[in-house]
Amino acid sequence: MKITYYGHSCFGVELNGKHLLFDPFITPNSLAKNIDVKSIKADYILVSHGHEDHVADLIDIAKRTGAQVICTFEIHTWLNNKGVSNTHPMNVGGKFKFDFGNIKCVTAAHSSSLPDGTYAGNPMGFIVESTEGNFYFAGDTALTYDMKLIGDYRKIDFAFLPIGDNFTMGTDNAIIAAEFIKCRKIIGMHYDTFSPIKIDHETSIQKFKHAGNELLLFKIGETKLV
Ligand code: NI
Ligand code: MN
Repeated sequence: MKITYYGHSCFGVELNGKHLLFDPFITPNSLAKNIDVKSIKADYILVSHGHEDHVADLIDIAKRTGAQVICTFEIHTWLNNKGVSNTHPMNVGGKFKFDFGNIKCVTAAHSSSLPDGTYAGNPMGFIVESTEGNFYFAGDTALTYDMKLIGDYRKIDFAFLPIGDNFTMGTDNAIIAAEFIKCRKIIGMHYDTFSPIKIDHETSIQKFKHAGNELLLFKIGETKLV
C-alpha cells in the first residue's frame, strides 16, 4: 500500500485504487507548512475522534473532494449540520463493507469532543481489511488490554500507533500494544507536533528494534510503499 504522511496523525493510504485519508490536521500544524492541502486526494476520510488536531481540515477537504466521511454518529450529525452530507456513521464494534475493503471500528481509550464543544461520541480506532492486506489505525488511545482482541481477530500487517505520550500512549506502551495486536511493523504518529509530545526519534526506533519490532517514522510529505 502506498502511504503518505501529512503530519501529526494524518495519513493518506492508497488501497485498491481508492484514496483513504485519516484524521486531517494540516493547516494549523507548522511542521506541515510545506503540504499543499488543496492537492490532497480523498475518496474516503476516516475520523477517529472530534479533537481539533484530528479534524481541522476535515470540512474543507470533504467539501472539495466530495469524499465520504467515516466517523461516529455524533460527528456525522455535526458534519451534516455544517453542509457535509456524504457521511457514513459507525460506532465501536461495528463493521461495514466498502468498495476498497471492510472497516471495523474498535475501542480507543481517550476522550472526544468537537472544536466547538459538541459531544463527538466515543473515540475509535479502525481496522481496515482488504485484499491488499489488513492494518490498524489506533487513533488517539492509551494502551488497553482490548488490543489483544485485535491480535486475535485478524492478522495485522502494519499498524499506526500514537507514540508521543502525554495525550496518548508513548513509545514504551506502544511496544506492548504491538505485542497485543501481534504486529511487527509499526508506523508512529501523534508525536513532535506540540511541545509535550516531542520525542527523540532514534531512542524510539531503537526501543522498538530491541523488542523485535520495526518503527517507521515518516518525514512529513513523504510517500512510502508499506
Ligand atoms: Ni485527541
Ligand atoms: Mn490528538
